Amino acid sequence: MERPLNRIVTLDEFIMRSQKEHSAATGELTGLLRDIGVAAKIVNREVNKAGLVNILGVDGAQNLSGDIVQKLDIYANDKLIECLQNSGECAGIASEEMQDILPFKPVVGKHPKYVVLFDPLDGSSNIDVNVSVGTIFSIFRRKSDETGPCNLEDFLQKGTEQVAAGYVLYGTSTILVYTTGEGVNGFTLDPSIGEFCLSHRDIKIPDRGIYYSVNQGYYLKFDLEMRRFIDQCSDMNLGLRYIGTMVSDIHRTLFSGGIFLYPNTRKYPNGKLRLLYECNPMSFIVEQAGGKAINTGLDRIMEINPEELHQRATIVAGSPDMVGEMIDFVRKYSAVSSV
Ligand code: AHG
Ligand code: MN
Ligand code: MN
Repeated sequence: MERPLNRIVTLDEFIMRSQKEHSAATGELTGLLRDIGVAAKIVNREVNKAGLVNILGVDGAQNLSGDIVQKLDIYANDKLIECLQNSGECAGIASEEMQDILPFKPVVGKHPKYVVLFDPLDGSSNIDVNVSVGTIFSIFRRKSDETGPCNLEDFLQKGTEQVAAGYVLYGTSTILVYTTGEGVNGFTLDPSIGEFCLSHRDIKIPDRGIYYSVNQGYYLKFDLEMRRFIDQCSDMNLGLRYIGTMVSDIHRTLFSGGIFLYPNTRKYPNGKLRLLYECNPMSFIVEQAGGKAINTGLDRIMEINPEELHQRATIVAGSPDMVGEMIDFVRKYSAVSSV
């Protein structure tokens, strides 16, 4: 992996080389990451021409979490399933857009070890207005016997058990960022050759940044300590940046530093974002880049025991010093207000 960046290294080449560095690797995880890369390119093509073809718009249905589902969500969901099913390396999937897990029919001669969870299209309310959207994925080694179908228990694992996680940001350029627990690397899609190329090696989040990122419109719906912490961010002259696509907000935080918050509100007493499809994978990335990710109860996100597929969590993630200060603030504030 010591090649200089002036030589193009494609995602496929990078994951193959990473696999060779692990003598025990069988190539299955490599295959899965490649499948996700292919799905990302197909979704990217569709996102890019979304304004041209009549694929845009609400299809009238609501997803399980009660949000409006748009056509591109379903398209992305279908493409991820197709790509993951084809290679036979995946035992089954769970998606933000589907009520239940989907165990895959076994491919002859394959005994897949992994299951994949994903948010096929993150930030769907931004599609219609040409603002960046993303895809998030999380990979676990299954707990059930590899010779049979996967089951719910394979998916309800703590974030610390993730073997890989990542996201694709369909932004001003399209970038795929992933980790297998050995740092974080980013690959920008070169549309002229249709390949993700290594562009950001060993991403490290700055210790602090100049932005905080929260839906300030809900300020009055947050708990008192959260309101006071947000006041403090503003007092410290931090700028407010909020796109409303978690992938984009975390991506900016990863590169520029800062703190991202989605606390509980009256409408979402447990937070809005989904633990398995959004919080766990993004927390794995943030931690692997040197950051922190906790909930508003100050528990590490990746240590939360999931009880159901569509469980929600509050989240505070970002630069280590800033999340550390939030922890100190909440502890101090709670101690003072309970006296
Ligand atoms: P999704 O489009 O997958 O349902 O996710 C949207 C999420 C997330 O991307 C973003 O951080 C958050 O919803 C924004 O919610 P608010 O509009 O409530 O701020
Ligand atoms: Mn989402
Ligand atoms: Mn989504």
